Amino acid sequence: MTTQLPHADVAVVGGGVIGLAAAWRARQRGLEVVVLDRGDLGAGTSRAAAGMLAPVGEADAQERGLLACNLESARRWPAFAQELADVTGVDVGYRACGTLLLARDRDEAEHVERERALRERLGLRVERLLGSQARRRESALAPTLRLALALPDDHAVEPVRVVAALIEACTRAGVHLHPQTPVDDLSALDADRVVIAAGAWSGRLGAGVPVRPVKGQALRLRDPAGPGLCEHVLRFEGGYLVPRGDGRYYLGATMEERGFDTAVTALGVYELLREAAELLPGVLELELDEAFAGLRPGTPDNAPIVGTDPRDERVVWATGHFRNGILLCPVTADLVADELTGARPEHAFRPERFMNDSTDTTATESARA
Ligand code: FAD
Ligand code: GLY
Repeated sequence: MTTQLPHADVAVVGGGVIGLAAAWRARQRGLEVVVLDRGDLGAGTSRAAAGMLAPVGEADAQERGLLACNLESARRWPAFAQELADVTGVDVGYRACGTLLLARDRDEAEHVERERALRERLGLRVERLLGSQARRRESALAPTLRLALALPDDHAVEPVRVVAALIEACTRAGVHLHPQTPVDDLSALDADRVVIAAGAWSGRLGAGVPVRPVKGQALRLRDPAGPGLCEHVLRFEGGYLVPRGDGRYYLGATMEERGFDTAVTALGVYELLREAAELLPGVLELELDEAFAGLRPGTPDNAPIVGTDPRDERVVWATGHFRNGILLCPVTADLVADELTGARPEHAFRPERFMNDSTDTTATESARA
């Protein structure tokens, strides 16, 4: 870092959705805050996300703590989106569109039945639909569709707009934003507290924090004729399609353990389109705007790392949001602001859980590669 910055109460390293939202909330509590990003604000993984707010679709029996947090953050999203719109005038594209989980053949139908049973056990709202019933809700679905599950509580926002709104909210609140400002030495920052919100790169800023990159390739598609291909988020084996409501669609995403590689491959694009087209043939008529890859900040237990570093009171971690960083943005921002203002909220995502003898050094090494 070469730029000389004024003293701040808090320096946030990383200007993705997590760093920006935490900075905004901290500033609202009266703290002087700077955000430092080595590139453009929001140009890391946040820009690459689909924006599904999917606590039900992403539910896993082994991750009950994460599910509760995901549900709470989904509950907060409408008010969070409204507050951002009121403060900035930016509409983040919140759509209460619901989601359909789709099955093409007998194997996938059995899988969907198991997913339904799990969600019912967890007390989550789901509705079993025969192929014909699902096609009444989405008429462009292929006649071969065998079974579907409606997830009426899983919705979506548009991450690019969320980033734009957060930048504007931070600016208006008086957060000092410093893009193109890489940080490699936390001790060089003139700030009382440092929040590490560096996404998939966070492991490079502190030992013992096992964040690793998990690559996801995705496509932005567009129907020049306007909206109409589908209204719900569609999830299926190998991907999902997120309609923006105006003729634009996001088709994602691969899950690949390939370190910091962000190459877009012919195979990745082919597989996404093939899987989607089997269920929604009209996807092949869309125009291709962009193919890209992002790096999810993964952790060994798939849950984020949020809280003061037990080895260094100056440092607060806000990272490791893996597949749900957009969803978890409202809750994480409040937890970080609590932490910075002296509260120690009870939750299951504190960094301590990795900072003992069982720390996964393999993942840490991979993050440093
Ligand atoms: P980032 O957005 O990556 O921000 C970190 C920032 O830190 C970057 O801007 C980077 O430049 C900066 N930085 C790194 N190192 C330094 C340094 N040394 N100095 C200064 N700055 C630094 N989540 C959902 O909730 N719903 C979805 O539908 C969804 N879909 C996804 C689809 C794909 C293909 C991918 C890849 C992810 C998806 N996610 C989704 C996950 C979500 O995108 C992430 O969890 C989230 O964006 C993480 O935000 P972040 O702010 O922690 O990281
Ligand atoms: N949450 C969707 C993804 O990470 O691909």
